[in-house]
Amino acid sequence: MSNKKTLLSGVKPTGRPHIGNYFGAMKQFVDMQEEYQCMFFLADYHALNFIQDKEEMKQQIIDLALDYLALGLDPQKSLIYKQSDVPEHGELTWIFDTITTMPYLERSHAYKDAIANGKEITVGLFNYPMLMAADILLYDIDIVPVGQDQKQHIEYARDTALKFNHVFKSEVLKLPEAKIIEDVAVVPGIDGRKMSKSYGNTIPLFASDAEIEKAVMSIVTDSGSEKPENVYAIHRLFKTEEELAPLYEEHKGKYKALKEALIVDLKAFITPLREKRAQLASDTDYVLDVLKEGGQRAREKAMKKMDEVREAVGVKLY
Ligand code: ADP
Ligand code: TRP
Repeated sequence: MSNKKTLLSGVKPTGRPHIGNYFGAMKQFVDMQEEYQCMFFLADYHALNFIQDKEEMKQQIIDLALDYLALGLDPQKSLIYKQSDVPEHGELTWIFDTITTMPYLERSHAYKDAIANGKEITVGLFNYPMLMAADILLYDIDIVPVGQDQKQHIEYARDTALKFNHVFKSEVLKLPEAKIIEDVAVVPGIDGRKMSKSYGNTIPLFASDAEIEKAVMSIVTDSGSEKPENVYAIHRLFKTEEELAPLYEEHKGKYKALKEALIVDLKAFITPLREKRAQLASDTDYVLDVLKEGGQRAREKAMKKMDEVREAVGVKLY
């Protein structure tokens, strides 16, 4: 048995990742594979709150699996699986529901935001924190790397583990720690606001050359300054200050030339990723095998933990 600490994180298969997601989160996942025993899953049952179309769901799952593999998540090192292959996630959620009160869930920021925006809330969305707690607590996880916006969800998981252990006088569930990924300064989008799928201001991580050119040429620049800040902030992800200084000195105030230089650097970064992804996409059987095998291995772990949970609550009679 490895004595490495365990790490788990999940992403909902709900859209194309962008360079903000990569530098803010996914890059760290790839790097952490060496130091931790990692589990990375596709949160498809969470996504079901948002995607309710069979063909789209299938496509989104395969797309996210391709993204994971193309970025360098390695099935030899990490467990890669989808949530729906481990029905114990749903079973444990039910048990948590029985020890959790409505007012406690009503304090969730995500829930309050949805209410404030006049959204109709499904029971699934309301209960999102309990499914997320189960995602983590089934596997005795030490560390959960997430963005700042997910911090409260990890608190819910910790509280729920404590409550379960207290109510059932057990020590079955392990308390996880959030590892908040320090935002690589928030990556700005092409309009200068935070790059986000919901603002439509992204540079997709697997963009085509034409998409890269179009996105960079539309980066908003304010004509007052000699250095286009929004261009520079993205450029800094690929080159050091020292490398960029002579370029920005030479092309002071010449936004087009600076954007062209950024396009060259973006293409150099994205092209190999895109090619790797295309190569993987030509063999979806391999991708499905990775998910299937990962699902089986994750399920073995989850079944063991559920056995302890059933024992603790008193329903395990044989
Ligand atoms: P989006 O805002 O595009 O919907 P998500 O909320 O799905 O992105 O974020 C997934 C992960 O990527 C989170 O861990 C988040 O912290 C990180 N992330 C998203 N956008 C950025 C950004 N512009 N800069 C840095 N990190 C980001
Ligand atoms: N809620 C996370 C998000 O929206 C995804 C997620 C689901 C997750 N379950 C998780 C992340 C468990 C970490 C651990 O980004």
